Amino acid sequence: MTIVSSLNNLFLKTYGCQMNVLDSELIADQLIALGYRIVNRFDDANIILINTCSVRALAEQKVWSQLGRLAIYKRQNNPHLIIGVIGCMAEREYVAISQRMPHVDLICGPSHLHLLPSMIAAVKQTKQTQLQVAGHVKRGQKTNKAETNISNANETSESDNIESLDLSRLISSANARSQAFVRITRGCDKMCSFCVVPYARGPETHRHPQHIIDEVCKLTLAGAREITLIGQTVNHYHYHDGGVSTSFADLLWQIHEAVPSLARLRFVTSYPRDFNNDVLEVMAKAKRMARYLHLPAQSGSNKILRAMNRGYTVESYIDLIDRARAFMPDVRFAGDMIVGFPTETEADHQESIKLIERVGYKNLFVFKYSPRPGTVAARRFADDVSEDDKKRRNHELLDVQARLSHANNNSLIGTTLEVLVESESKLKNTTPVNNESTASEATLKNGTKRLLGRTTYDEIVAFTGSPELIGKIVKVKTTAATSLTLLGELIN
Ligand code: SAH
Ligand code: F3S
Repeated sequence: MTIVSSLNNLFLKTYGCQMNVLDSELIADQLIALGYRIVNRFDDANIILINTCSVRALAEQKVWSQLGRLAIYKRQNNPHLIIGVIGCMAEREYVAISQRMPHVDLICGPSHLHLLPSMIAAVKQTKQTQLQVAGHVKRGQKTNKAETNISNANETSESDNIESLDLSRLISSANARSQAFVRITRGCDKMCSFCVVPYARGPETHRHPQHIIDEVCKLTLAGAREITLIGQTVNHYHYHDGGVSTSFADLLWQIHEAVPSLARLRFVTSYPRDFNNDVLEVMAKAKRMARYLHLPAQSGSNKILRAMNRGYTVESYIDLIDRARAFMPDVRFAGDMIVGFPTETEADHQESIKLIERVGYKNLFVFKYSPRPGTVAARRFADDVSEDDKKRRNHELLDVQARLSHANNNSLIGTTLEVLVESESKLKNTTPVNNESTASEATLKNGTKRLLGRTTYDEIVAFTGSPELIGKIVKVKTTAATSLTLLGELIN
């Protein structure tokens, strides 16, 4: 057992989406600036923070079991260990966590993460459990706010305060990475009937464009080559300041022009409604913008889309795909699909397959419907598609997509791609097709390594080269392909 050498050793575990990854990075920055040290093993820590996800039941189940194991660990090994549950599950499940997990010392929702340093200090001082949540879980329900028994800051000051988390980001060439996320919106107002995000992250708010541009500038100056703007529905971005109005298209163009040394600008996730041509025009003319759109359809059946409260039809979704292709014939799409949403029949499922084939996604994320307590779908519909059917439909969509992805990747064999080198490959063998041995060692001849990078279309490319290439844009000639990865050789 490692002896804890410092009272400020922090182990931070992150589940979920890019938003959580960014939140964890910002929390770490904030605490490092106050003298905390990040450790990679939980038994080296005297503070453990779990940044949680609530989107599907499985994500929450993992945290419940982890908290159960930590209760035993704390009792047997380190009674002074501070355990914090933060993020979406903290916001949604704070009552259950405080009742079922008395060894948890702090519970902090995503809208109050800027308060973590003072919460940790208060735990140390008072030994009392600290709670900071916004009460978003009551959104849309007629309740007396006092009933939630928590302080509920008004929305403006709440979002102003949480803005301080992003504004205090530690940016220096010492901790520079070639890619970075920058938040442009928080929360979501869409209220898709299956989704907990509006209840976990609260109403949609938009960051000041100057804050976003400054952050992108600083990150790029410090060494970032690719920035991904993130939000739940980025195309809804708009900001009004003293009579000046900034749309999402304006924001993209302003960033593109303000930071000419940025090699690539991406954004996720787009909502398939209110996606106007002004954004497509900017994407087409801004040469350093990625030719890639993540546009979750969720279903190919209009009946299911209505029950999901998505607010668009299959026809309008296809119209958007066609408009995007008219502006950028080479644009690639990623999608999300949910299988087994209540009342989904085989015919609805076949409509989803039809849509996948019609769009020809580059890649697709497929999820089995998971009823989430508190959502409209969970209240209104029985979870009436059997687990076996969900599994089969899940596989069927993935099989269709694997076929499309493989065909697309095969069509690129022999072409030369511009690749932004991201990292060393963790895969033992990235060359299943050519005969070069199983490369069980990451380091190859002359100090070269297996490297991974991405094209502007978000295709993953594996090749051999010097680790010094990480962060650079290189040319790679493709020699082979799987459905997930292109394999190639560096062109000098
Ligand atoms: N706009 C967000 C969506 C967040 S949730 C974004 O940035 O990606 C991510 C995906 O999880 C959704 O697009 C949806 O396909 C899936 N999802 C959300 N709630 C779900 C549920 N209850 N069951 C199954 N999948 C779900
Ligand atoms: Fe969820 Fe729909 Fe918003 S999927 S994040 S409520 S766009």
